[in-house]
Amino acid sequence: MHSIRIALTTGIAAALLVTAIGVAGAASAQDAAKADEGAIKYRQSLMESVGGDMASISNIMKYGLPLTGNLVVHAESLAAHAKLVSTAFERKVTAGQTDAEPAIWAKADEFKEKTKAFETETAKLVEVAKTSDPAALGVQMKATGKACGGCHDNFRKPKEESFKRKGGGGE
Ligand code: HEC
Repeated sequence: MHSIRIALTTGIAAALLVTAIGVAGAASAQDAAKADEGAIKYRQSLMESVGGDMASISNIMKYGLPLTGNLVVHAESLAAHAKLVSTAFERKVTAGQTDAEPAIWAKADEFKEKTKAFETETAKLVEVAKTSDPAALGVQMKATGKACGGCHDNFRKPKEESFKRKGGGGE
């Protein structure tokens, strides 16, 4: 009688433990999925920020807006955000609503070079923006644009393969 009770109790305890582990496992899988999604969203919003500053500088120049005093702020913002790009890709997430190529992590050294080049060109952009020389700024904007493209060419999925198309979303 006694041993049956012990066996029963042990059985229940074991069952509870299994359930607890199961719940914890599900919770951590959920946490991981959330962290993955967040990593994707963050790196995309960071890219939107650099895209926004590039567009602001282009618009001031293209339309000859009386806002040249804002150029340095946009260039500095761009350079500051450029420094965050490497951190934004620390977490490896290749699945989901993303256009990041797995090569980012498979060819990490190459990706690092592209990140560095971006940092270098945007730092130069700040210096050029301070000189208020539109021709020089035009040249450096091109160089910065090349740093964007230099990374996108190998590390971002081409538009035709973008999740945005597949999902029937924007663009
Ligand atoms: C070191 C690599 C790298 C550099 C440099 C870089 N990008 Fe990106 N960019 C990426 C990757 C990778 C993605 C795809 C991110 C994703 O979908 O998870 C991306 C995505 C984007 C997106 C789409 C964001 C979205 O909402 O889906 C825009 C816009 C963008 N980049 C603009 C720029 C501009 C403008 C520059 C230069 C001023 C730049 N990027 C420089 C790697 C880079």
